[in-house]
Amino acid sequence: MAQYIGILTAGGDSPGLNAAIRGVGKAALGHYGMEVIGFRDGFRGLAENRSMRLTSDTLAGILTIGGTILGTSRDKPHRMLLGGKRQDMTDTIVEHFQANHLDVLVCLGGGGTQKNALRLKQRGLNIITLPKTIDNDVFGSDLTFGFDTALGIATEAIDRLHSTAHSHHRIIVVEIMGHRVGWLALGAGIAGGADVILIPEIPYDVEQIAQAIRRRLRSGRKFSIVAVAEGAMSVQEAATLAAAERRQADATEQEPKTRGKNERKAPAAKRGSHTLWLARQLEELTGLESRVTILGHLQRGGTPSAADRLLATRLGSACADLIHEQRFGVMVAARGEGSEPLPLEEVAGRRKLIPMDHPWILTARHVGTSLGD
Ligand code: F6P
Repeated sequence: MAQYIGILTAGGDSPGLNAAIRGVGKAALGHYGMEVIGFRDGFRGLAENRSMRLTSDTLAGILTIGGTILGTSRDKPHRMLLGGKRQDMTDTIVEHFQANHLDVLVCLGGGGTQKNALRLKQRGLNIITLPKTIDNDVFGSDLTFGFDTALGIATEAIDRLHSTAHSHHRIIVVEIMGHRVGWLALGAGIAGGADVILIPEIPYDVEQIAQAIRRRLRSGRKFSIVAVAEGAMSVQEAATLAAAERRQADATEQEPKTRGKNERKAPAAKRGSHTLWLARQLEELTGLESRVTILGHLQRGGTPSAADRLLATRLGSACADLIHEQRFGVMVAARGEGSEPLPLEEVAGRRKLIPMDHPWILTARHVGTSLGD
């Protein structure tokens, strides 16, 4: 009897999602003779039972298209906003899984999706995930699809900013996405030849950045490009954050009723305002005029690169193999040219930061790029 696969895309969209849907779908339909149903708008579509049949016709021509044909959302099964109220929709999701006779649900997503998928696994559903995000921060996977495309876009932006910064003798601070990690800023910064690269993993000292820019000035280079990850923070901010996290950890050990009312998780990346502040500081400290460019969602849009299409297709097809073998409860991690199924418990709730001895960090330092420390 045919196996029934449900598939959904969750979290921020990412180039390569359609390639992955196609990869799972084509291998499942054509190679294994399975049936595939797509749920719309992430976990919300499963909670509301909004779906579409994926056939070879639906999958045709989507390889090169950005975004996701299924739509996506940041909804969590256990905290879904419905009628103005947060509701736990897990039971409904389990019912719809059964009502659609699904053998497995394939969730394409980043860090948040891995956590939601684990919760559904713990409710007894067969789940497989694929690692998608432009941030490249999914724990356990060498790479995530979407990253390579965004890297290309951010690099091209830095290339283009060079000529205008050079002509006007300005500092241009370019803000690059990446949530709380610096893969995209570091990769694009190196590839685009940024003079300063700031990433969350290395808290910066604004005076060190100013010194690097002044050194360039003395050697006759009257412009500088500063690539700043949206999650980058100063040494002071990092210390405040670490203290808040310690308080939060202490509070979590206490009874919930004694927990500080205002304790909360580490703040999400503060897009925009922080970068404007940094540019003003550098202007004051160096005497050079500054400008800010925030790349924002441009980095997520449009057609996926060849590398992302290839990665998404091969992870998608490996996913169909695992379904055929009935190996569930795993993420299909990219491992070199192949893939490896990792238990969701090993992946969920963890983030892949850039290690301090990573070759990209050493490379940046060796070519004289300031990392702000
Ligand atoms: O996780 C991908 C990402 O693009 C991050 O780099 C960024 O912080 C976030 O999503 C933006 O989310 P939204 O599209 O909800 O503004």
